[in-house]
Amino acid sequence: MCSLFLLCVLVPIKFNSRDGYALDLPPLFRTSSSTVTEHHNGRHTLERPSREKTLQYPGLAAALKKVAINNEVLVVMSDRRYAHNDTILDLCIQSINRVGVKNALVLALDNKTRDFAEGRGMAAFMMKLQAPESQQPGGARTMIGALKFRIMAACLDLGYSVLFSDADVLVLQNPFSFLVRDSDVECMTDGYDVRTAYGFQTSLRHDEMGYGSDAVLLNLVVLNAGFIYVRATEASRDLMSLVVRRVETENTWDQTILSESVFLPSTPTYKSPAVTSRIMDYELFLNSLTLFRELRHTGQHYTDFLPAVVHVNAHTDKAERMEAIVDRYVKGNFTALDHFPLGSAR
Ligand SMILES: *[C@@H]1O[C@H](CO)[C@@H](O)[C@H](O)[C@H]1NC(C)=O
Ligand SMILES: *[C@@H]1O[C@H](CO)[C@@H](O)[C@H](O)[C@H]1NC(C)=O
Ligand SMILES: *[C@@H]1O[C@H](CO)[C@@H](O)[C@H](O)[C@H]1NC(C)=O
Repeated sequence: MCSLFLLCVLVPIKFNSRDGYALDLPPLFRTSSSTVTEHHNGRHTLERPSREKTLQYPGLAAALKKVAINNEVLVVMSDRRYAHNDTILDLCIQSINRVGVKNALVLALDNKTRDFAEGRGMAAFMMKLQAPESQQPGGARTMIGALKFRIMAACLDLGYSVLFSDADVLVLQNPFSFLVRDSDVECMTDGYDVRTAYGFQTSLRHDEMGYGSDAVLLNLVVLNAGFIYVRATEASRDLMSLVVRRVETENTWDQTILSESVFLPSTPTYKSPAVTSRIMDYELFLNSLTLFRELRHTGQHYTDFLPAVVHVNAHTDKAERMEAIVDRYVKGNFTALDHFPLGSAR
C-alpha cells in the first residue's frame, strides 16, 4: 500500500490581506539570490512511466497501468459520502460507462468507496490519505482540496498525464477527444461567458493623474479545479508541489491557489512554476452555474449543443440536478432542467 505523505513540515504562512493583496509564499518559491534558478528547456516535454518511477508508489502505478491509454487516465476521487446507489458517485460512474471511457479509475479514499465503484463496473484503487491534523481546522473542503493535488502529483511522478475529476461530474462525451494537449495544464473554468472565462479588462481610475489616470486591470474568473488535465511534465510537477504546499499551509481556497500558481508571473519576490496553460471551452466543459444561469436560456443553442462534461459544482442539490441533466442530455427531455431555481440554498 502506498502512502503519500509528502511534505509534512508545516511552516505557518501568514496571508496578508491588509493592503488589499499580498502573495505570501513558502520559502521554496520565494526568490532570493540563492534560489533563483533558470527554467531550462525541456520542462514542458512529455514524460513517460518507467520502472524507476514505479518504485515511488507501486500500488498506484499498477492501478494506473491497468487502465491507461497513451499514458493518460481519468481519475475520479471520492469518499464514502458519495458512494450510494443512484447518487453522486454512482451517477458519475454510470455516465463514464455509458460513454465508454475505458481509461478511468476511481481513486477511493476508503474501502467502502472502492468496493462500491468496483461493484458498479469501474476500476478502483484505494489510497488511505490523511491530511495532517494541523490542517484540519480548514474544514473538509480544504482537506479534499489538499488530497486531490497530492493525487495528481503522484500520478505525474509516475509519468502519467492525469485528467482529474471530482465525483459531481457527468460525462456526456469522451473528454479525451476534446483535449488539445498543447499545454502543461488544461482546465475547466468557473467563468460563465467569454469574458469571465477567458479574461477581460477593467480599469482603476486615478482622476488626479490627468493624462495617466487609467490603470488597466486584467481579470478572469478562477479555474475550476474539479476538472483538470495535467500533462506529465517537469513544469506540471513544479506546479503541483507549489499548489500542495500552499493548500496545506494557507487558509485560502484551493481554486484561488491553483489559479494564482498557473497564471501569475514571477516577480522580484516570487518564482512562478511557469506552466503553459489553456482554459477549456467553457460550454463544452460546463460548470453548473453556466448551465443554469446561461446555457439553458439560449433557446436553439441549448437544444442543439451537447457538452462533453457537466460539473455540478455550484449547487448543493447535486444528485437531483445530476439526474435531471441525464434526463436532458441522455434521455432527450428538453424541459428537464426548467423547474430548477437558479441557485440552491446555502
Ligand atoms: C445497489 O444496486 C445494486 C445493483 O443494482 C444492487 O444489487 C444493490 O442491492 C443495491 N443496493 C442498495 C442498498 O439498494
Ligand atoms: C474497511 O475498513 C474498515 C475500517 O478501516 C475495516 O474495519 C474493514 O474491515 C474494512 N473492510 C474491508 C472489506 O476491507
Ligand atoms: C421532462 O421533465 C419534466 C421535469 O422533470 C417532467 O415534468 C416531464 O414529465 C418530463 N417529460 C417526459 C416526457 O418525461
